[in-house]
Amino acid sequence: MSSVQIKPNVYWVGAVDWNIRTFHGPAYSTPRGTTYNAYLVVDDQITLVDTVYGPFAEDLIRHIGEIIDPSKIDNVIINHIESDHIGAFPEIMKLNPKAKVYATANAEKGIKKLFFTDYNITVVKTGDSINTGKYTFSFIEAPMLHWPDSMFTYISELKLLLPNDAFGQHYASNFRFADEVDLGLVMFEAQKYYANILNPFSRLVLKKLEEVAELGLEIDMIAPSHGFIWRGNPEVIIEAYQRWAQGAAEKKIVIAYDTMWQSTAKLAHALLEGVTDAGYRGILYQISKSDHNDIITNIFDARGVFIGSPTYYNDTLTTVSPLLDELIGLKAEGKFGLAFGSQGWAGGAAKTIEAKLKSAGVELAAPAFTVKWVPTEEELDQARSLARSILS
Ligand code: FEO
Repeated sequence: MSSVQIKPNVYWVGAVDWNIRTFHGPAYSTPRGTTYNAYLVVDDQITLVDTVYGPFAEDLIRHIGEIIDPSKIDNVIINHIESDHIGAFPEIMKLNPKAKVYATANAEKGIKKLFFTDYNITVVKTGDSINTGKYTFSFIEAPMLHWPDSMFTYISELKLLLPNDAFGQHYASNFRFADEVDLGLVMFEAQKYYANILNPFSRLVLKKLEEVAELGLEIDMIAPSHGFIWRGNPEVIIEAYQRWAQGAAEKKIVIAYDTMWQSTAKLAHALLEGVTDAGYRGILYQISKSDHNDIITNIFDARGVFIGSPTYYNDTLTTVSPLLDELIGLKAEGKFGLAFGSQGWAGGAAKTIEAKLKSAGVELAAPAFTVKWVPTEEELDQARSLARSILS
């Protein structure tokens, strides 16, 4: 890959990580890899906005070197201090020890503790700006989008918003713009990113979108720090964030279950038939064979979620609770739910599922549907009817 000019005097100088398959440790699956986007703005003063993950520092420096001498950077703007964006910062500062660094107060504290070094940091807040010649960089704090240190940078003369993680997607490509690839896939990855990272902060997302609208910023390009850049029509992703933050849900039910000897699987399929009869889209996942992040992405914009497990040592199967725990962290408010499953000698799984669904903010639509041993034809009919009646 090489650097790419994205606007007059603005260059993508990031890195493409084709082979990363999980992100945030094991928490987030990245089957399409990711990118770490950093941007170089060439003006009377040279400014680098964000860096890349540490192991990709060489790529960053090489890409900068295609445009300017990498030791001629005057300003480094740090929008966010997570390792995927700040990892290569010490390498940049070794080359540019006198560079001025701009970051929020929280970021400043984090940088000290991450690198045990005193850099020349100027703390900035919403409303502050710097001028580098032709261009004005304005800062907008964005706490909890998705960390307390996060901020956006806006360059008014270029109508360019650099929001770091917000509006991003984990998607490696040799193209840089969303309009150069399949937009459906980009939107799926953007939605997955929102559902699995930003959803707990939806109220703050809405507030931030309102604040940005009130600031009256003209934006014709949004260049996030992962995945593709939105140009020409950035409203596509802004409107999607508005919908997602408002909790817009489709006429869709996710049925996620695991099974020991196929009894719970039979119930899951019977519930799916009832869902289909009711005219809802149903998506069925056997949890142990499915990607948790995909399940969560689909739960995120579904109206309801049915979770099934047989009882195993008076509790759920060991594969089921981790999904429920993720839902508690990521929230599933405004949805309705159902626990179901089969049991042998003793029960317990349904109780755990119901408690965890409630903790995630899900309202139970009916008491848990459980059967002993193998479901009879009559019980399968009852499962179908239950799904139809919940959705009627
Ligand atoms: Fe919060 Fe892409 O790091």
